[in-house]
Amino acid sequence: MRLLVSNIKTLAGIVGEGVSRLQGAEMKRLSMIDDAWLLVENGKISAFGSMADMPSGGFSVDGEINAQGGTVLPSWCDPHTHIVYAGSREGEFVDKIMGLSYAEIARRGGGILNSADLLHTLSEDELYRQAFCRAQEIMRKGTGCVEIKSGYGLNTTDEIKMLRVIQRLKESLPMRVVSTFLGAHAVGRQYGHDEYVDVIINEMLPEVGRERLADYVDVFCDEGFFTPEDTDRILEAAARWGLKPKIHVDELAATGGLPVAVKHGALSVDHLENMPESEFAILKDSATMPTVLPGTSFFLNMPYAPARKMIDAGLGVAVASDYNPGSTPSGDMKFVVSLACIKMRLLPQEAINAATLNAAYAMGLSGDYGSITPGKAANFFITEPIPSVNYIPYAYTSPIIDKVFINGAELH
Ligand code: NIG
Ligand code: FE
Repeated sequence: MRLLVSNIKTLAGIVGEGVSRLQGAEMKRLSMIDDAWLLVENGKISAFGSMADMPSGGFSVDGEINAQGGTVLPSWCDPHTHIVYAGSREGEFVDKIMGLSYAEIARRGGGILNSADLLHTLSEDELYRQAFCRAQEIMRKGTGCVEIKSGYGLNTTDEIKMLRVIQRLKESLPMRVVSTFLGAHAVGRQYGHDEYVDVIINEMLPEVGRERLADYVDVFCDEGFFTPEDTDRILEAAARWGLKPKIHVDELAATGGLPVAVKHGALSVDHLENMPESEFAILKDSATMPTVLPGTSFFLNMPYAPARKMIDAGLGVAVASDYNPGSTPSGDMKFVVSLACIKMRLLPQEAINAATLNAAYAMGLSGDYGSITPGKAANFFITEPIPSVNYIPYAYTSPIIDKVFINGAELH
């Protein structure tokens, strides 16, 4: 099955084979070809070039899409979401407008625990149905790979229920899904703190591990949630089941989770709104990708993670949506890219690399996704005709994505 995409104004996000992430000044590099074509073979990118150099007589293909002067970018990769959840929490949205902080709502027993109360009452089928709608929504907005966490079950039965829903999404969605076990998101209502950490280690992890229900493990290591010591114990137990960490750190306060995560070989450290600069050195020669979530800062009116400073210090940065009912009820990666530019001062090229190749790296997928590279999955979108790539984050609410392709097939 061969598909030719012709008349592309700009084919952007071209990366050489074997480049798994971009760091520091490399992040400014967004390679592109103007007036281009792209050839897809059996769901994978097979070749590309400029229209002027198209082989005479063209290609023998099974289908052709005329991009009509639109720009092509690799699909967004979203390496941090919580899209399996029950209902919504717009009541807390109003509480926040009236002056309560995210942390105060959590201390009063709301927040994540409210979502858990609701999730206990939902069947697996209904939970799947709700999550499937959110997944459809983000695919239409250009996301082609997503990480999804558990963490609203908060007892063994319901954490497993969430992971089974993620498993079903993996099997039924065209986009690539990776799953993360986040039992340590908040302490379930029926447990004491230490008792709950023991349940995670002795009950949940063995079941998740035995049934291979997760690819990664996460802990909400922050003030009022889990400590670096809890995190250390959980990650050590998870390692016995082969689960690599992707960890929530430094969101509400800098509590020392980042060094613990890096010590355990974390693939990513996420949030970082309150990251002290002293932590940059810990990441410097590590394989851990700092992943920032500007939509969360926007929605909660909180400080933004120091992404500009990290890049200037030579680090790579990924961005993600954090799509969840409490702190970021949106999975719009184009808007996330705009926020990274407007609020974090990333250049459009840096923000796009952060949302594609580096985001794929932050979920262990950059060998197969995240750029226009021969052999990678043909996950890309075609925009309406736009003046330049900079227009994508500039036009921050315009729906300029015209056609979405996942594994070479158009999404309808
Ligand atoms: O990443 N910080 C922890 N977890 C989510 C919020 C979850 C919720 O409020 O439901 C986050 O922001
Ligand atoms: Fe999160």
